[in-house]
Amino acid sequence: MEIIHISAECYPVAKVGGLADVVGALPKYLNKLGHYAKVVVPGYDNKFTNENEFETVHQGQLRLGWFQFSYTILKEKTNKLGFELYLIAIPELFDRPNVYSYQDDTERFTAFEVAFLNWLTETNQVPDVIHCHDHHTGLIPFMMSHAPIYQHLNRVPTVLTIHNGQYQGWFGFDKLHYLPQVSSSRLGFLEWNGIINPLASAIKCAWKVTTVSPSYLDEMSEKANGLENLLRFERPKCLGILNGIDNEVWNPKTDEMLDFNYDVKTLKDGKSQNKKFLCEQFNLDPTKPLFTFIGRLVGEKGADLLPEICSIALSRNPNEINILILGSGDSNVEHGLTQLTHFYSGNYNAYIGYNEKLAHIIYAGADYLLMPSRVEPCGLNQLYALRYGTIPIVRRTGGLKDTVLDIGDGGFGICHDHTSVYDVNHSITRAIDLYNDTKLFESTRKTIMQIDHSWDKVAQEYIDVYQSLKN
Ligand code: GLC
Repeated sequence: MEIIHISAECYPVAKVGGLADVVGALPKYLNKLGHYAKVVVPGYDNKFTNENEFETVHQGQLRLGWFQFSYTILKEKTNKLGFELYLIAIPELFDRPNVYSYQDDTERFTAFEVAFLNWLTETNQVPDVIHCHDHHTGLIPFMMSHAPIYQHLNRVPTVLTIHNGQYQGWFGFDKLHYLPQVSSSRLGFLEWNGIINPLASAIKCAWKVTTVSPSYLDEMSEKANGLENLLRFERPKCLGILNGIDNEVWNPKTDEMLDFNYDVKTLKDGKSQNKKFLCEQFNLDPTKPLFTFIGRLVGEKGADLLPEICSIALSRNPNEINILILGSGDSNVEHGLTQLTHFYSGNYNAYIGYNEKLAHIIYAGADYLLMPSRVEPCGLNQLYALRYGTIPIVRRTGGLKDTVLDIGDGGFGICHDHTSVYDVNHSITRAIDLYNDTKLFESTRKTIMQIDHSWDKVAQEYIDVYQSLKN
């Protein structure tokens, strides 16, 4: 089957969060199963685009209301990612370093979607499935089903995967003219609560909707930033599929970002060498348990509570624990976390920013990973942590609930019910006790390293979805 994935992010081309990791891995594993999966993303002005070679495969024009843009389809020359990668270059809109957060994001992503459909139309491509990810590609199922100019695509099945339902890409009907002409009787497919809502539109128009974990799908009927009723209504065509991880990228035995590789047999030494390295770099104490948080410093991840969680944990357990934070986001949280370095030097440090290599080293060297998320559609960090023998401490929500079972219930992690300072600190206390129970601690680390969350297993579930739509 020929499957086109279209997304705003794809690792290593452009990454903001877990969306990129999924889009950078799933297609590779679909190809391994004998299918033909490609990826289409915008052509940003970033390191990947500048350091790799591309060939022009198509050029065309698109209209966005009164505006006209030229677009170029660039194909990465070597296929080294395990799939064909196509960039849609629209210089006026995407010749910028970041993926999001520009005031014209509506124009940027709408143009990206229109260019994609123009390209397929002008080159007469009819893939077996078009797989859209999140709201940035959410208008595609609508345009394919309802815009006469894309009529030749209206029998191509579309799949929407929701990685994060908090962001929906809303914009007003004053920008309706950006979209190709449709009959006014179809406008209801674009709208939710009186405005154009690309995510809602995709939930209505895609042939199948998946969420990145089963629990997240259940939770969305109760809490989905305004889309609860829509999800309840569309539930029959929705399915939760737990994300996998790319075991080739995330393998402590072969990970090139680590100076000290290890596997389940050499886990103890390997992890302690990585920990020692981190402790030297960040002025921490290698004889004490090392807790970490890695990710975006935003409320969704519970990061606003981190400064308080850390200061309580560090003052209650003086010189007994270390905490190392890696992330960026909300400037108040960044400030609070930086401040703490003055008070708890020797046991605490924070790296504010994004650093993929450092993230790998921290998964390898840390003992515990904190994920106090308020919302977690799947969460990949806990899966990376498991693979690297780092015990996750998670709030029972979404994908965290589906992947981490508490050690008290015969599992291997530490779970709590609320995103609260109290709950997380209680879990930290439990983690210190576990660390001191050396035998149980060691055997738990061995167990978690062997849990299989690879895409090898999961890719087939997507194939089943695609196949069900072809019949
Ligand atoms: C988003 C979600 C995260 C999920 C990822 C990949 O970043 O917040 O929970 O793991 O997408 O699907």
